[in-house]
Order: sequence, then C-alpha cells, then structure tokens
Amino acid sequence: MSSVISSHNPDAVSRAVGVLNAGGLVGLPTETVYGLAARADIDDAVTRIFHAKGRPMGHPLILHISEISELDRYAIEVPLPALTLAQQCWPGPLTLLLHKTEAVSSLVTGGRETVAIRIPANECARQIIKQCGNAVAAPSANIFGHVSPTSAQHVVSDLGDNVDLIIDDGNCSIGVESTIVDFTTDQPQLLRPGGFPVEDLESIIGQQILMPTGESRASGMLASHYAPRCRVVVAETIDIAKRALSDYGNARILDHWDNSPLYAASLYTQMRQADEDGMEAVIAVFPPKSGLGMAIRDRLIKASFL
Ligand code: TXA
Ligand code: MG
Repeated sequence: MSSVISSHNPDAVSRAVGVLNAGGLVGLPTETVYGLAARADIDDAVTRIFHAKGRPMGHPLILHISEISELDRYAIEVPLPALTLAQQCWPGPLTLLLHKTEAVSSLVTGGRETVAIRIPANECARQIIKQCGNAVAAPSANIFGHVSPTSAQHVVSDLGDNVDLIIDDGNCSIGVESTIVDFTTDQPQLLRPGGFPVEDLESIIGQQILMPTGESRASGMLASHYAPRCRVVVAETIDIAKRALSDYGNARILDHWDNSPLYAASLYTQMRQADEDGMEAVIAVFPPKSGLGMAIRDRLIKASFL
C-alpha cells in the first residue's frame, strides 16, 4: 500500500520533499483536484508519472510553481495580459500556456515549445514545491481517462503502490481542474474551462478569450475523459432527468445540480460513489453556463461519451 500522511502532520512537507528529491512520486492536494507530482527536472521521475497513470507519453503535463517570481525560469515572452492574470489569479485554479525556456524538459511538454504553468492555492502543496527548490510536474492523480481524484482516498484507489507518498488534505474545495488559457497565439484562447470562470478572467484583462476551436491540444478535451464506469446521461432540466431515471433499473440523479460550486466540489466523488454502489447510470442535470457551470457542463459531456 502507498503511504498516506495527513497535511497536519508536522513531518508532511519534509517527507514529501524527501520523496520528490529522490525521484519519487507524491499525491499532492490542490484546490482543484489531487495531482501526481514529480520534480520536473528529474526525467526518470517524470517518466514514472506516465507509467503510473497509463498516460501516453506526449500528453503534456502542467508545471506547478510556488511563487510568481519563479515564472521567468520556465516561461519567456509572457504577454502583459497573461502577467496580469498571473498576478491577480495566482495562487488559484488558472493555468497559463506560455512559451517555454530551456529549463523545461521536453518530457514535460510532450515535445512542444509551450509549457502550461500554475500556482496551486493549497498551502501545503505550495510549501512542498517551494522547499523542493524546483517546479513539480503534476497531472491529475487518476488512471488516464478516469474521473479525477478529489480526496486522498481516490488517489489510493486509482494509483495504489504506484505513488510513493500521498498527502491527505481532505476534500478539494473546488473539485474540477484548473481553467487553461493559451497565451502563445495572437489572441488568448481557452483550452479547458475549469475552476476559474472564464468571464471573470475576461473582465480582469478587459479582453475576450476565444472559445476552444478545431482540434484540441489539451488531452482533457478528448472524448471519453473524466468518466466513471457507469453511464453518464445528461439532461437539460430536472424534469427531464426524473423522466430519464425510469429508463434504467438502477440509476440516480446527481445531487447539487442547482448549486454550481457544490455541484463542482462533489461531482467526481458522486461519480466514483455511483460506481462503488454498482449503479448502471447517473443522470446529470446541466447547470447554467455561467461561473463554474461551464466547466461542469464540459466534464459531464466528456463523461457521457460512450
Ligand atoms: O487543476 C489542474 O490543472 C490539475 C491539478 C493537479 O493542478 N492538473 C491537471 O492536469 O488537470 P492534467 O494533466 O490532468 O491536465 C492538464 C491538461 C491536459 O489536458 C494537457 O493536455 C494540457 O493540460 N496541457 C499541458 N501542457 C500543455 C501544452 N504545452 N500544450 C497544450 N496543452 C497542454
Ligand atoms: Mg487529468
């Protein structure tokens, strides 16, 4: 069994740093979902991430840093609006896609010249990254294609022995992954809706962020992602959802559909619970598109692909 340590344990940070510096993998709590972290400058450790998740090499990872002053080390030609967002939204559920420096290995970026970077809002995670002395690469700590983990228990159940240490900081407060905005093209473009509402980002920079178009470059944008084993059926309204229930012998409507922050925070736990309870299907009511609703709708659609 992988070892789990509470974030409240005074040794938690130093143990995590020890594991990372030795080339190991740490289940890292963040405000969005738990990450599977390795030191980004240790190629063997980064390679282990792909093996542990069953993730195809070439799917790029997000670099997690602890302070905005570290940005220069990993990104160049940061446009002003990107810098504004970094200053105003970090630490927080926002990832910026930027041009990379030599310091970022092509293993992390899947051979691309761009790098995705964020500062997570979780205090313990930031301490770990800071004391590590280098950025950590961390995808969500789930088996590739499965529902992201929002508790330490979820990480244990997906990755077990393939992770050396898991820091248990309870349930993630936001519950869906970070919003990713590409600043390497002429106009900023959304790659993945997430925990930071895109309309809030637009109002901070006073500029429109283009919606994702064409072939996506983010793996979370692939069909059949974020999916439990049971069927996920989406419904526009609660009345339609109630009618859909009768199509299945053993199904339930996902709770908190009328409160987007709660819906987001509980979504992945509810999907995993439905599998544990042997449900045939879950029926999910679409939330309004505003705020966290956009990310929830996106994940529900991805999860509903057969
Ligand atoms: O909230 C989050 O972002 C969580 C926590 C752990 O920080 N991380 C996360 O990582 O969701 P992951 O690997 O599950 O999703 C990262 C997404 C992928 O869809 C990947 O393709 C995209 O970011 N990405 C990373 N680097 C990229 C790059 N250079 N170009 C295009 N997409 C990139
Ligand atoms: Mg993921």
